[in-house]
Amino acid sequence: MRILTTILLVALTTPLAAQTRTSRPPVKKTWTVREVHDTAIIPGSNALFAIEQDAPKTIKGWKAARREALGVTRGAKLLLAPGTSRDAGDWQKLSAALLTRGTAAVTAVESRNTEKVTLANGDLLEVCEICHTIYRDGGRSMPR
Ligand code: HEC
Repeated sequence: MRILTTILLVALTTPLAAQTRTSRPPVKKTWTVREVHDTAIIPGSNALFAIEQDAPKTIKGWKAARREALGVTRGAKLLLAPGTSRDAGDWQKLSAALLTRGTAAVTAVESRNTEKVTLANGDLLEVCEICHTIYRDGGRSMPR
C-alpha cells in the first residue's frame, strides 16, 4: 500500500513534459480582466440592477439576489490580484473602490430595501464608469 502511494505520488509530481517528452505550455493560473467580468462582475451587477426594476418578493428571492450580488465583491478582489491587476496605481484604487461600494450594495440587499439598493447601485456604477473611461474605451457608454 505504502509503495503504491509512493509510486502514485511520484507519478503525480513528475512534470508532464518529462513523462511524454513533449513540451506543453504551463497552465495559466491567473484570471484575465474579461474572465473576471464574465464570471463575477457582470452577473453580480446584473443581479443588483435587476432589483431596481423587479425587486424580489420573497425572503428566498432576496437571499438568492444577495448570493448573486456577491459576484461584484468577488470580482473586485480578483481584479486586485497579481497577474490580473493592470498597475499599482489607479487600477488598485478603482478595484478597491469597487470592493467598498460592492460591499455597500450587498449590505443594501441584506436590508431588503429597494430604494437603498438603487442608491448603492448608483454609487457602484460610478466606479465601473471611471475605470472604463481610463482603462477600456475612452468614455463610451458601456453595454449592459
Ligand atoms: C478596475 C477597472 C474596472 C472596473 C472597476 C470595472 N471594469 Fe468593466 N471592464 C474593465 C476593462 C479593462 C474591460 C475590458 C476587458 C477586456 O475586454 O479585456 C471591461 C469590460 C467590461 C464589459 C464588457 C465585457 C465584454 O465581455 O466585452 C462590461 C459589460 C463591463 N466591463 C461592466 C462592468 C461593470 C458593470 C462594472 C461595475 C460593477 C465594471 N465593469 C467595473 C475594467 C473595469
